[in-house]
Amino acid sequence: MKNGDLRDGYWLMGFQYELTGSLYSLGQIPKCKVAMLDHLKPGDKLLIAGVGHGIEAIKAARRGVDVTAVDISKTMLKYMQKKIERARLSKPIRIINNDILQEHHGPVYDMVIANYFLNVFPREKMLQILTHLTSCVKPGGSMVIGDFTLPQNGGSFYKTFQTIYWYFAATLYWLTADNAVHPIYDYPGLLKSLGFEIAEIKYFKMLGMDCHWSIRGQKKAL
Ligand SMILES: C[S@@+](CC[C@H](N)C(=O)[O-])C[C@H]1O[C@@H](n2cnc3c(N)ncnc32)[C@H](O)[C@@H]1O
Repeated sequence: MKNGDLRDGYWLMGFQYELTGSLYSLGQIPKCKVAMLDHLKPGDKLLIAGVGHGIEAIKAARRGVDVTAVDISKTMLKYMQKKIERARLSKPIRIINNDILQEHHGPVYDMVIANYFLNVFPREKMLQILTHLTSCVKPGGSMVIGDFTLPQNGGSFYKTFQTIYWYFAATLYWLTADNAVHPIYDYPGLLKSLGFEIAEIKYFKMLGMDCHWSIRGQKKAL
């Protein structure tokens, strides 16, 4: 891991982050985070930005995928490291403690994953980071985003629930980790505007409502 003076917004909430997400989503967030791993085969290259505790990184490494995981928070990576030790992986995960915008790897990855990562930023920075991440996807590869669902289907009760559900979580992490609070981002629309085709969207329901989604955008092959 690199050292340096990196902002660790999760020093306070890092230890319980995975458990809180699982409870808050009635078990749907962990499912959403691994939803698109079936598209990877042994030897494929995967980049995970803002990896956190890294359950998807461990699952992918178990399948023989070549995983690079980046996170700015030493606290989050400490908990990821503990999980890796328990998992006794035969294939190591490359872990980088850095700001993702400082990592310039080129278009070499079969898949880039941003799970519950882009939503921590205000819109302009989110767009900068999403553009950067999509530049790391190789032609024909995938950009995967797991996050809170954009309220777009159903009646007003349905949309109000989805909206409050997001703002409650956003406010908690604004107070504790200084994350941005903003309307839910339209990731499929943004991926399309960056030239990606939406290959697949998987929804994860709570109380019968779509509250989380995993979106897989595909970059045009050469
Ligand atoms: C909301 S958490 C999501 C963690 C994980 N992806 C998950 O789904 O559980 C956001 C993560 O992004 C990391 N992060 C924030 N800004 C970052 C940056 N500029 N570069 C890399 N990681 C960053 C945080 O430290 C944190 O681990």
